Amino acid sequence: MQFWRFSTNALATLLSVVSLASASGPADGNAIADPNSAVVKLTTETFKEFLEENPLVLAEFFAPWCGYCKLLAPEFVKAADTLNDSHPNIKLAQIDCTEDEKLCQEHGIRGYPTMKVFRGEISEDYEGPREADGIMDYMIRASLPAVSHVDNEDALKELISEQSKPFILQLNGDSKSNETFNEVAQQGRKDNTFISVDSSLNKALGKKITNIKIGKKPTFLLVHPDQFDDAREISGDKLDVDALKAFIKDESIPYFGEIDRDTYLMYMTSPTPLAYYFYDKPEQRDAFKEKFEALGKKHKGKLNFVALDATQFGRHAEVLNMDPEIIPLFAIQDSENNKKYGIDQVQHPKGPKFDVIEKFVKDFVSGKLTPIVKSEELPSAEEKAANPVVKLVGHNYRDILEDTSKDVFVKYYAPWCGHCKKLAPTWEELAEIYQSNKDGAEVIVADIDHTANDVDVPVEIEGYPTLLMYPANGEIDEKTGLRIPVPFNGNRELDDLIDFVKSSGALGVDGTVTKQERDDAGADILEDEDDEAELPEEVEDVKDEVNKKAKKAKKEAKKAGKKASKKAKKAVEDDEANDEL
Ligand SMILES: *[C@@H]1O[C@H](CO)[C@@H](O)[C@H](O)[C@H]1NC(C)=O
Ligand SMILES: *[C@@H]1O[C@H](CO)[C@@H](O)[C@H](O)[C@H]1NC(C)=O
Repeated sequence: MQFWRFSTNALATLLSVVSLASASGPADGNAIADPNSAVVKLTTETFKEFLEENPLVLAEFFAPWCGYCKLLAPEFVKAADTLNDSHPNIKLAQIDCTEDEKLCQEHGIRGYPTMKVFRGEISEDYEGPREADGIMDYMIRASLPAVSHVDNEDALKELISEQSKPFILQLNGDSKSNETFNEVAQQGRKDNTFISVDSSLNKALGKKITNIKIGKKPTFLLVHPDQFDDAREISGDKLDVDALKAFIKDESIPYFGEIDRDTYLMYMTSPTPLAYYFYDKPEQRDAFKEKFEALGKKHKGKLNFVALDATQFGRHAEVLNMDPEIIPLFAIQDSENNKKYGIDQVQHPKGPKFDVIEKFVKDFVSGKLTPIVKSEELPSAEEKAANPVVKLVGHNYRDILEDTSKDVFVKYYAPWCGHCKKLAPTWEELAEIYQSNKDGAEVIVADIDHTANDVDVPVEIEGYPTLLMYPANGEIDEKTGLRIPVPFNGNRELDDLIDFVKSSGALGVDGTVTKQERDDAGADILEDEDDEAELPEEVEDVKDEVNKKAKKAKKEAKKAGKKASKKAKKAVEDDEANDEL
């Protein structure tokens, strides 16, 4: 999966507004459709057979308690009843996820209601409106053939002029290319219009499409609305489904597009680095539009150029390590290796001129730019000595994590997070047990303010605090070059954390022993120096443990014993002696 790349950060800032719909919402009415309506109730038993018998089904996965499901139900029923009369080939169905939990899991249902369009076993997300007319309209369109065949000039002109997204034309279809086109159209009908043009119209089309000479062999063209002088062509005998799909995906990306909720997925799933121009007035974007288009054309396949409306998605600047307060701005995000580059905003407080952008792009392409690393300052020697927890920042993060001889246990936190604050004292105690801030520590207990330091994490951070153990000599994650961490999901109590360090760290360091030794050693200092009687017994208590992990425990115990009295040390040595007898 490439999806880790646009992890929480990037998505959150672009999408925070849309994701609200999964909450419970308004709560009147009944989410379960009237059994006398045309909505079919499906269960685990009936689901498969129903899809086999009905070629086009809109299925609603819901929960009876969910407010938005209640809101949808009457509209869904109305659409089902009307379609039952006018288009009996289209069926609407409901699956109650509180009853058929497993069925919903199998279909990856994460929120209610989720609607999916099924054609047999193949399904796609329903992305249409949620009122009756809109649902009917969407489903009727879905029932039409995926390919529109056109054989007269007026119809062709009209169809082409209606398009608001890139569309695909098939010319000189033979049986093989017809098959390919039909299959790709079936899968892609939601995103593009597929038009098969009768060869009698080749001449007329040739007058409109000015940059391509239309010949006689099977050809597919992708055309952006109103850009008939820049059609993209793919032809040849080897045209198969995958090649056509890849062609459509690549060529649908405009030279200079707008990134918003409709298009972010297209851009984010493309491995091509993304160059952003943030604007807060459309005139700013429009003034550079043609120049950006030319730049996009020049760097096609190497760099995608987008405009971003900062009045809506300005916070996305933070993800790019830029200041969202200074707009316009220009920045490049290379998601493949999580590097960000930006034009200095202090030098260009009113936004960069285009020649500055052009130069910057040129330097990016030739690898001359230095990425911006967002980082707090490195902790000073005094800070290091005073803080038992090893403080990670952007500048030392890799150095510390790349020392694979140690178990490194990292707490990723945000300063505003309450659970993080609550955990802080326990985390310090944990660090103290392993003496993490001392030379020679085997277990590094560390933390990092993830909002102030832009660092790679091999897994997606879904909330704060996130606790990850990077085990010594662990397997390396290809993308980040860091070890693949083990997440901690237990109770955030000291004992549980100690257990985790022992079981998930590769060195198996047993903090209970160290802790016990330290407690004992500490206790001993507090006690009367002359009170010798109690000591051996206490040591006896931990003897079993010590035996088990003799070497490590001794080492740790010795470290812990630094503060302890001579007597405590001697007791440990006695214990070692016993061990050998
Ligand atoms: C759906 O249509 C069929 C006839 O095509 C009819 O028998 C049935 O009663 C209709 N169902 C509803 C709920 O309107
Ligand atoms: C392919 O599709 C075109 C256009 O729809 C049609 O004219 C042609 O007869 C088809 N060719 C074959 C071999 O099916």
